[in-house]
Amino acid sequence: MYNAKITALAYHVPKKVVTNHDLEKVLDTSDEWIRTRTGIRERHVVAKGEASSDLAAAAARLLLKQRGIHASELDCLIVATVTPDMFFPSTACVLQEKIGATHAWGFDLSGACAGFVFAVATAAQFIHSGAHKKVLVVGVDVMTSIINPKDRNTAVLFGDAAGAVLMEPTASREEGVLDFILGCDGSGGRYLRMPAGGSLHPATNETVEKKMHFVHQDGRAVFKYAVQGMADVSAEILKRNHLRASELVLYVPHQANIRIIDAAVERMGLDPSKVVRNIDRFANTTAATIPIGLAEAYQEKRIHKGDLVMLATFGAGFTWGSLLLRWAL
Ligand code: ACO
Repeated sequence: MYNAKITALAYHVPKKVVTNHDLEKVLDTSDEWIRTRTGIRERHVVAKGEASSDLAAAAARLLLKQRGIHASELDCLIVATVTPDMFFPSTACVLQEKIGATHAWGFDLSGACAGFVFAVATAAQFIHSGAHKKVLVVGVDVMTSIINPKDRNTAVLFGDAAGAVLMEPTASREEGVLDFILGCDGSGGRYLRMPAGGSLHPATNETVEKKMHFVHQDGRAVFKYAVQGMADVSAEILKRNHLRASELVLYVPHQANIRIIDAAVERMGLDPSKVVRNIDRFANTTAATIPIGLAEAYQEKRIHKGDLVMLATFGAGFTWGSLLLRWAL
């Protein structure tokens, strides 16, 4: 039995930046409203024809270069996304071809904002059992492909991005993934969903006219559950590992709203300087927020070998999770 550790990490965002001031010109909104209600200043968005697999491939190539290995050495690709290039083939298959991961199998994992944490926990099991030695985990979403640009309730909240980590075995039981708590509650589905495009409501003229292929969200309800859910799952994992919040060196929360992050941090009694906050520059990129936050923190030397790191998330489903890592890089 091996622990799974992160041995490389990278992210990629598309070039185009849309600021709140840009949105003011096309929507009944204001920079002030967006900043004070969400913490967002700008977001990156894809060019026409740019898909999730393109962002994922760019992040994966950076990661492979960092680790100094070829894609053919990968055993498995797990792509967390709610915006696959298409339903099938999976984005993992498209990615496999794009990067030349000739010996890897792979699959997509749909966990919305919790997708990346679900995928890291899943990858850790393949490493843990000895089945695989190199698992690439990507969190990617092109949220602008499922957002109604005319709906100010959702159009201002999201961005497009990919983040990736490489998971490998470590002989030490003291480092890598130490613990995780994952959950879902389908009764929350009505508050945040994209109603059509699946087997329940296949695409028809009517589903298009009724705008059922876009994200629909009851923001207030999601906000309430997210504050509670992210704080609870963070507290629970600390408690069962007999840890105090002060022992964490870095807390990487999902970036959906700065007020959700602040509320969770306050409830945990965590020093705010240990918290990753980059929603101002990227907005909510769904499955990509946590790997981007982790990669930025690593680049900025905010974490070192031996440090205790927590990932925490809450999103559509509802889905949630927390994951504890002893940093091994
Ligand atoms: N610009 C200006 N006004 C706006 C905008 C906008 N972009 N959007 C909404 N408003 C208006 C509303 O119409 C409302 O007006 P009214 O009072 O006249 O009806 C007013 O602002 C207040 O609206 P609220 O919804 O109460 O605003 P709130 O403070 O709750 O903020 C927000 C809304 C930002 C969506 C917040 O509720 C939120 O962040 N919710 C959680 C989002 C989230 O975590 N999603 C989960 C992750 S996503 C995933 O899993 C895919």
